[in-house]
Amino acid sequence: MTRGTGRRTPIRTLLTIAKADEAVVATGWVKTSRFSKNVSFMHLYDGSTTKTVQVVLTPEQTEALQSRLVVGACVRATGKWVVSPAKGQAFEIAADSIEVLGDVDASAYPIQKKDTSFEYLRTIAHLRTRTNTFQSVFRVRNALSWQIHKFFQERQFLWIHTPIISTNDAEGAGECFGLAHGKPGDPPFFGAPAMLTVSGQLNVECFAEAFTDVYTFGPTFRAENSNTARHAAEFWMIEPEICFADLDDVIALAQDFIQVVGRATIAQCAEDFEFFDARIAQDKEFTNKTLAILDRPFARITYAEAQDILLKSGKKFEFPIGHGTSMQSEHERFLAEEYFKGPVFVTNYPRVQKAFYMRLDDGGETVSATDLLVPRIGEIIGGSQREDRLDVLQEQLRVRNMPEAPYWWYLDLRRYGTVPHGGFGLGFERMLMWMTGMTNIRDVIPFPRTPGHADF
Ligand code: 4AD
Ligand code: MG
Repeated sequence: MTRGTGRRTPIRTLLTIAKADEAVVATGWVKTSRFSKNVSFMHLYDGSTTKTVQVVLTPEQTEALQSRLVVGACVRATGKWVVSPAKGQAFEIAADSIEVLGDVDASAYPIQKKDTSFEYLRTIAHLRTRTNTFQSVFRVRNALSWQIHKFFQERQFLWIHTPIISTNDAEGAGECFGLAHGKPGDPPFFGAPAMLTVSGQLNVECFAEAFTDVYTFGPTFRAENSNTARHAAEFWMIEPEICFADLDDVIALAQDFIQVVGRATIAQCAEDFEFFDARIAQDKEFTNKTLAILDRPFARITYAEAQDILLKSGKKFEFPIGHGTSMQSEHERFLAEEYFKGPVFVTNYPRVQKAFYMRLDDGGETVSATDLLVPRIGEIIGGSQREDRLDVLQEQLRVRNMPEAPYWWYLDLRRYGTVPHGGFGLGFERMLMWMTGMTNIRDVIPFPRTPGHADF
């Protein structure tokens, strides 16, 4: 591969070369260096793999450079691919030359062995990418995005780019970031107060009713002031929407999606998952347990059944359970973690707890909604069959004191060729947390936005 800086081979590719004596160029950053009288060693990483490549240097080569070949320095090594006499690697680079492209002041470099807590690393989010954990996290984040697109593209779903700027609070939860412009008192730029989108669902439904199977995958924004390990103000959501479908079809799609995408991501990033097993979960069976879960059907219960299980559990919860009160994270986690020991779809929630667009069940008390709860995290998916009957949908707006006018176009979908349809939203970061064992959403987002934090 030719780049402006000269020929180089990614370390991941280098390590697959099984033939000695090839001329190679490796570029990257120093992970470790060790100097002795007769020979010196340096390990380089470049982000392409969890592994490093060993570069062997002679005393002559390092004489003038020793103080510069320190952790974090950016270098280019040119040499020969040779069989390594030592344990630890099959091959190594016998360097002909070594060049320092970017120096590091070792006494000031913030990535040191002494403080590597995730809390500390969040304060240097621009540099934490250089640590083993974040290298693995962001490789898996990349792979998961790729596998998600692959899943839908292979099934003829269209990817729809729904808008980021919106004038509708799709979820009706009032957790929006408003947009300001110009001077106070200026008329609204968009004719109505605008905000950052909380969901692309209402927009993507318009496309579903023309293209049948569609999805959005993009950033969404919520001004929830909940300072928890599972909430971010800016997160990514995947929202498929399918026509000629009821709640059972939505649940079948959600299960297939999680299972296929989860297995493919683990296969693509096998090394990274080995790292998570050893260093994050500290359980060498952690990923194997995930794979086992991904091979069997998920449990499914109604909200009423969930309430019964919780009431009969004899467990002391911080928030009491009563029929009608909404489930808290502790209840969700109990169901997935302790009771089902795996993912569980909870269905048919009370109407009053859910959004206006969900299909009203016979009896009028519950809606055809589902949340998927998983161990350690709680809710990772929220979805439903949509209310496709115009009069019922209008009534659902009315009982919530929501005006019809801003939704005229959404109601039109029920006026012209309405169809049974539904979909769900997966919290991308929550899936990442569930799979990697990372416990804080701030540590699976490149530059997390949470109350008080939008630096970097
Ligand atoms: O359950 P929610 O609010 O559902 C919707 O937005 C629907 N419009 C989805 C649909 O049917 N198309 O959000 C969906 C998921 C949640 O289950 C959760 O995983 C994630 O989005 N989520 C968050 N993730 C991180 N930080 C937050 N503040 C989140 N709020 C929701
Ligand atoms: Mg939800």
